[in-house]
Amino acid sequence: MKITSAEFLKSALKEADWPRDKTPEIAFLGRSNVGKSSLINSLLSIRGLARTSSTPGRTQVLNFFLINDKFRFVDLPGYGYARAPKEIKAKWSEAARAYVAKREQLVLSIHIVDSRHEPTKQDLQLHDWLEHYQRQYLTVATKADKLSSNELRRNLERMRRALGREVLAYSSTTRRGQEKIWQAIESALNQSRAEEKGDR
Ligand code: GTP
Ligand code: MG
Repeated sequence: MKITSAEFLKSALKEADWPRDKTPEIAFLGRSNVGKSSLINSLLSIRGLARTSSTPGRTQVLNFFLINDKFRFVDLPGYGYARAPKEIKAKWSEAARAYVAKREQLVLSIHIVDSRHEPTKQDLQLHDWLEHYQRQYLTVATKADKLSSNELRRNLERMRRALGREVLAYSSTTRRGQEKIWQAIESALNQSRAEEKGDR
């Protein structure tokens, strides 16, 4: 897809503050520090649009970005940051869950996992939510550049078995896997456009 514009719209935690118009949304979900913001920046080829950091727990709110004036990327707060205060952790997961459960604008979720590790308990829980709420989603194993091709193959297989679905290898530095993510995004957007027309 050709990116003609990408702008930060707003940050919001509470549902009441999320954008209200019907613009379709692609959500990026995953553990704290897994590389959600980096994935957004690398997909758009814009460094620094979504704030990245080597300090886990950087993204503590939902960040909405408007792309090509047509759809939004939503950078969700990362879960599983052990050092965050309990009540903050509860608020994050509440917001993320509410988003996955209810958000009408959500047309595709990108669940990001770390290609180096086994899925965590929370990875499995998010996976269950996406299934439970019958969301269309793509599972992406990022930081693939940090592994040898043998290790990567082994880990992807392990991840596939744990989650019971295909897992796409990605790297924000080499951008391997980028084409396939864009294909999934475009197809979800086309589908939502077709449904929108069907409603009228
Ligand atoms: P929170 O907002 O804290 O939840 O983190 P996040 O999931 O948005 O992660 P972020 O994109 O900030 O990346 C965390 C760290 O991992 C940064 O130091 C990134 O440079 C690094 N990183 C992210 N993706 C990749 C990748 O594909 N390869 C490598 N080598 N490093 C990566
Ligand atoms: Mg982030």
